[in-house]
Amino acid sequence: MLVGWIALLGVLGWAEADQKGTKPSRPDGRASELGRLVFEQNCAICHGSAGDGRGMAGMMVRTKPRDFRPGIFKFRSTPNGSLPTDEDLFETISRGLRGTGMIGQDDLPQTKRWAVVEYLKTFSERFQREKPQRPISIPKPPPRTPELIAKGRKLYQKAECFKCHGIEGGGDGPSAEGLEDDRGYPIRTADLTRPLKRGSSPEAIYKTLVTGLDGTPMPSYEGALTDEEFWALSFYVASLNTGTLSHQQRREAAAGQHVLRMHGGRGPGMMRRMPMMQ
Ligand code: HEC
Ligand code: HEC
Repeated sequence: MLVGWIALLGVLGWAEADQKGTKPSRPDGRASELGRLVFEQNCAICHGSAGDGRGMAGMMVRTKPRDFRPGIFKFRSTPNGSLPTDEDLFETISRGLRGTGMIGQDDLPQTKRWAVVEYLKTFSERFQREKPQRPISIPKPPPRTPELIAKGRKLYQKAECFKCHGIEGGGDGPSAEGLEDDRGYPIRTADLTRPLKRGSSPEAIYKTLVTGLDGTPMPSYEGALTDEEFWALSFYVASLNTGTLSHQQRREAAAGQHVLRMHGGRGPGMMRRMPMMQ
């Protein structure tokens, strides 16, 4: 039942993630009071009021909520090492990161989502100093043929993806043991047979391969492969996916749903009504 709901929410998240609406332009470029309120009500319980990733619900999930202060983001359309675009952040908030506590909040009105994007950028000085680089260009995919997938399978060996992700993609390669993120916390490689955080479409995988996931051991392969090779590999990796969340992924997503129901701006908001929790 619960699993069904999570799956359904995932599907709805995808449909909506495409409808980005238009980004409201704020002439002063500053975060609004609305952004702060949305953050306090929907995000701070995990990401902390100071954006330091130390909200009290963080203990419920193994993959910890992001600390926004360093300004390092995994899921970007921009090259390795760059800040994400506002649209990237909007997409993450809308779609969520599958199999983690980061549940898509596409039921928040778009104005609120854009406002919280502006607000979360205030936690890191990086956004004052730097501009995001231009998003990578994603060429039209070639037709999905058995030859293309076979080519992708070879590239998976040749590019040594298996070292971390395992021969069959199960996340159990020889280098998977003891990996850390760049803040020194243990990190697991993705099990490529399970739903991926960014979604499991070839296009999502293409973006991950070209841009890399900043702050993690997942490197960028920009320049190392041709456009066609990137597509072959992306289609191959997508073909490994069974679409079924692992036990751990289900637990994390269920914890995230629970937190949103209990503390989110749209749920009963029990904690917020208790004065000691203010
Ligand atoms: C139930 C806990 C929870 C809530 C509530 C929550 N998040 Fe997250 N969030 C997470 C976790 C866990 C991660 C880390 C996922 C990972 O690194 O794989 C994350 C990661 C992120 C990221 C980083 C994505 C990247 O590319 O690295 C952004 C941006 C983000 N959250 C924004 C928000 C915003 C904005 C809200 C409120 C609208 C919110 N989150 C609410 C748990 C939560
Ligand atoms: C040094 C180890 C390492 C190598 C080599 C590596 N990866 Fe990864 N990869 C990771 C880690 C760690 C993650 C998980 C990052 C996270 O979720 O925070 C990951 C995540 C991913 C994801 C999931 C993104 C998502 O949305 O959840 C895909 C797809 C992926 N890798 C594909 C590949 C492919 C294809 C190759 C070879 C071209 C490759 N990786 C090589 C470590 C590696």
